[in-house]
This record gives sequence, C-alpha cells and structure tokens, in this order.
Amino acid sequence: MLQPRYPDEVSNNATGVSMGINELVNWKPPADAAQLKVAEPFKIKSVEPVCQTTRAHRKRVLRGAKYNLFNISSRDILLDFLTDSGTGAMSQAQWAALQQGDESYAGSVSFDLLRDTVRDLFGFKHVLPSHQGRSAELVLMSHFISKKGLVVPGNLHFDTTGAHIEFQGGVIREFPDRRIVDLDDLSLFKGNMDLESFAPYVKKNHRNIPLVVLTATCNSGGGQPVSLANVAAVGKICRKYRIPLFVDSARIIENAYFIKTYEPGQSRKSIRTILREFLSHTDGAMMSAKKDGLVNIGGFIATNNEDYFDSFRRYTILFDGFVTYGGLAGRDLAAIAVGLREAIDLGYLKHRVSQAAYLATSLWKAGVRMVMPPGGHAVYVDARAFCPHIPVRQYPGHAIAVALYLESGIRGCEIGTLLRGRDPRTGRDRTKGLDLLRLAIPRRVYSYNQLDYAIDAILRLKKKAHTIRGVKFVRESPFLRHFTSEFALI
Ligand SMILES: Cc1ncc(COP(=O)(O)O)c(C=O)c1O
Repeated sequence: MLQPRYPDEVSNNATGVSMGINELVNWKPPADAAQLKVAEPFKIKSVEPVCQTTRAHRKRVLRGAKYNLFNISSRDILLDFLTDSGTGAMSQAQWAALQQGDESYAGSVSFDLLRDTVRDLFGFKHVLPSHQGRSAELVLMSHFISKKGLVVPGNLHFDTTGAHIEFQGGVIREFPDRRIVDLDDLSLFKGNMDLESFAPYVKKNHRNIPLVVLTATCNSGGGQPVSLANVAAVGKICRKYRIPLFVDSARIIENAYFIKTYEPGQSRKSIRTILREFLSHTDGAMMSAKKDGLVNIGGFIATNNEDYFDSFRRYTILFDGFVTYGGLAGRDLAAIAVGLREAIDLGYLKHRVSQAAYLATSLWKAGVRMVMPPGGHAVYVDARAFCPHIPVRQYPGHAIAVALYLESGIRGCEIGTLLRGRDPRTGRDRTKGLDLLRLAIPRRVYSYNQLDYAIDAILRLKKKAHTIRGVKFVRESPFLRHFTSEFALI
C-alpha cells in the first residue's frame, strides 16, 4: 500500500521560521524514498504502447543518430525523459475542450476563455497567445532589445531565452543563488536571484538594462524554485530603477506549490493566491504552456502595461499571427485554458512534484550525486561526479545520456557545457557551471513502476561508469547546438 507523505506535510517543519531576503530553510530528506510515493489522482483510459529494444539494436540506432539523442525516433525509446515540454497527457476535459475550439481567425471564443483564465490566475489584463515559449521570447526580446549590447539579467536563463537575447544583439548576465552549484547544500529556493550581486550590478548598470527575466522554477538550475520573498525583492530593485521585470512562467504553478509547501507563512494560501501575489511584483509573464499549461503546444505573454501590450501585439502579428490566436488553433487555446485550471489542483500537484522527489531521492540515497533538494519537473545527475574521468570539454552529461540509452532505452538529455554553447565574444565553450544529465518527467504519463525501472538502470550504469566514453563534435551547429549537432564517441 502506498503511504502518501504529501510534501505540504513537510512544510510543517518550516512553519514559523521567518525568512528574510535570501534566508533559506533546508529540505529534510525522508527516511525512505518510498514515503514520497503518492497514489495517482487519475486513472488510465487510453494506452500508448512503448517498445522494448535490444542492446544491439540501440547500438545501431545511436550510430545512425550520430550520437545525438534528438535524432532518435520515439519508436526506439522505452522511457522518454528527454523533456517534460509538450509531452504530458491531456485530460478528458481537455480533449472535450478541443472539440469545442472556436477556429475563428479573429475574436475566437476560445481566446476569450484563455484570456479570462490567465486574467484570473495570473492577474494580468492583456494576454497574447504565442505558438510556444520561444515565440513569446522572440516578441519580448524584439521589443526590449532595441540596440546591440543591452544586458538582460536573470537568475539563470533557459537556453532559448538566452539564445533570443543574443539573437537580438543583447548580452546575458546571470545572478544565480550561489548555493545552486553546491550540490551538498539542501537549502530550498536555490532558484532565487542572488540579490547580493544583482542589486549592486543593477545600481551601476541600470541604464544598459532594458529588462530583467526571472525564471520560476529555474530549469537550467535544477528546477529549483524562486521564493515569494525573492521575487518581491527583485521587483523592488527593478521598480527603483524603472526596469521591467518579466517572469518566465513555464513552471510557475509548480513554483507556487513549492512556495505553499516550504515558504514560511504561505501554507494556507491557495495556489491561485500565491500565483497572483508572485506576479504582482512583476510587469508581466511569458509562458510556454507546454509545461504547467498541461498541453502539447502553446504559450502566451501577459501584462498589465498598455505600452508593452501595444508593441508586443505588433510583433505577434508579424511572427505568429493575429492577436486572438498567435500561431495556435482555437482548440489549442481552449485546451490551455482547461489545462491551467487543472494544473492548480493540489491533488495533481502533489503527485507531480512527488514523482520527481521520489526519483531524485531514490538515486541520491543510493549514492548518486545530484542537484538536491528535488526540483519540480526533473532530476539532474551530477555528470562530473558520475564520470570523473571524462573532461568537461568531452561533455560528460551528454556522454552519460548516450550510455544510459544504450544500457536501457531511456532517453535523457545534457544540461551543461554542451547546452550552454560558446561565448559569442570568445568563441570558447562556457564551462563555468554544472554538467548535468537531466531526466525530465512528463506530466501524468509514467507510473512509479517505470520510475523504478529508471532507478535500476541508472544504478546499474553507475557500477560501470568508468567504461563510459566522452564525446566530440563531428559537426557543430552555431545556435542551440545540442539540438542538431553530430557527435562521435572518443
Ligand atoms: C524555463 C523555460 N523557458 C522557456 C522554454 C521554451 O519553451 P518552448 O519549448 O515552448 O519554446 C522552456 C522549454 O523547455 C523552458 O523550460
């Protein structure tokens, strides 16, 4: 029998502790990872088969894919932890909403549904659909980066955000919480902006900063959440210097759940209240709805600022289509509206966050070094510790992802030196930071049994980690190189 130990019970440990800016409380590991299991708040109605393959077959597949896991057909994958983006299972209510999608070019009723939902949950009046997160980023950066050399600070930008900043001629500047690179530090809210370095930087350089982006949860930083106290402090600094603050909200609902569970004084608030409070410190949000929107495609930008909205919509029309559809079908808009409502359900969130916590804690307790405490959507294995014999410029995170596929048919991905790409000024790999293997968990897709299979495979691979070989480029793509480059084993 599963013994649900809901994460918000853990919050009782933290209640009453006053948390000032950047003052963090610690995550308390359970005695046994199995305590994190939560019974599924859904039952399965439609079944999609997955394929068992042999090791010899996977060896051939890897060679054919030039050792880039993005080139592998899902036919050859047993468990797909490549991403949690657009890979979730929709509910019966979402499938029903698809049927009712209004496909009018302008004035779609499905748009009204989405706009009203975002207004209600996020507290922003203006909503612009976009076909996914990166097209929202394109609109945003086209507006804010008006000349080369402007700097866009953030906690840690996601790769597409960083790429869009640089694509417009802007410069990335990141202020992650210093504890984020300390894998032995069990502080919660390591997704925070480091205020000690951010505040003086902004004071000195504010004339060169058109925008600040806070990513919550922080995907490139192990899916760690940002606290309410931190967003309030960042918002205060931005307001002081009249710099707009936008939130990359792909996983803001999971972030709100962490706040409710762990941030002192927040446990009685609803997820909606926390979301609205979080965003009240900001000027707007962009969202890839493929994550917490519980859909397979879609996104949006939301703001209360009339001037931004007026400018954004011109770019939306240019890049994505008319302002009431933004590159999406009417049915997609309807599915996002329903998905956002489902994503704030506490039963759903408990199960969601517990799956990541179960996978992470099981591996961690078995001696796998990883980003802890568990984030919301994925586990991040420390690749440098897993394979200390592989130099950073041989991309240990990617090397382990390749080896894990060969071992088990499981697909994960590298978040590290390969993904960070080259510094455009020096042309050198950005080796500063962590090298991680990320296993992202699709929403409402896999069972605990499948997670157990993954745990066994990773522990098996750990025993023979010394045999894993590094990788080198055969062909390197200039932008977002992890998607399309080709590799060979060293
Ligand atoms: C934090 C974050 N921002 C933006 C994006 C980009 O969204 P999309 O893949 O919908 O373009 C992602 C995608 O994974 C993400 O994780």
